[in-house]
Amino acid sequence: MIKIRRAKINDVRTIHKLLNGFADRKELLPRAISELFENLQQFHVADHGGAVVGCCSLAVQWDNLAEIKALAVADAYQGKGIGKKLLQTCLADAEALGITRIFTLTMKDGFFNKFGFKRVVKNNLPHKVWTECVRCPYFPETCVEIAMVKDFDARQKPIPAFKPGDLPKDGTVPTEPMVPKEPEADAPKTATRRRRAARP
Ligand SMILES: CC(C)(COP(=O)(O)OP(=O)(O)OC[C@H]1O[C@@H](n2cnc3c(N)ncnc32)[C@H](O)[C@@H]1OP(=O)(O)O)[C@@H](O)C(=O)NCCC(=O)NCCS
Repeated sequence: MIKIRRAKINDVRTIHKLLNGFADRKELLPRAISELFENLQQFHVADHGGAVVGCCSLAVQWDNLAEIKALAVADAYQGKGIGKKLLQTCLADAEALGITRIFTLTMKDGFFNKFGFKRVVKNNLPHKVWTECVRCPYFPETCVEIAMVKDFDARQKPIPAFKPGDLPKDGTVPTEPMVPKEPEADAPKTATRRRRAARP
């Protein structure tokens, strides 16, 4: 039976191998083992008789914003609902923390779509989100990751959706600008901006 549980220190090397196996196939970003040790508390794993066969992490990034990262299920175990259980466990973790907006950067938008994630313009996510991007070997020219957001609270101001016309034609290279900027909502409403708006 598959059990979803919090990761333990002895799982780190298996998680590392699992994630970097997918990274070798360019399905996930490569992860340093030091990063996994540092962020161990963020991880849940799928355990099959003591063997780790899947993992997922939830990383709080900003005020009311957490990221689903490093979701992976070993090839032989895919298609059995394990990815779904790992994701749902991390989403429940986010809810327990009071976080109502979750994002992910992924190449598997079809999977996340099933769970209510919507594609958004990456540029509208806060700066902090990009700290990992700039360390990524594919940044910026060959970035293939799609930004997706799931809101638990419908009352919050939505992040603008990615327009279908803006989708990459070959399904690989995004057409959205790869330079981060502060989202509109976070930009300070300074006196200068108000003065400018008042000018004829
Ligand atoms: C993406 C991944 C985590 C899915 O895990 P999984 O255990 O195979 O998925 P599940 O069996 O839980 O699937 C749940 C649902 O999502 C669907 N699904 C799975 N992968 C999908 C995909 N790539 N695109 C669209 N739908 C997908 C399943 O058909 C299933 O639908 P259903 O509930 O209607 O039957 C797994 O394929 C994986 O580890 N891939 C390599 C790493 C990766 O790309 N991770 C993505 C996160 S950045």
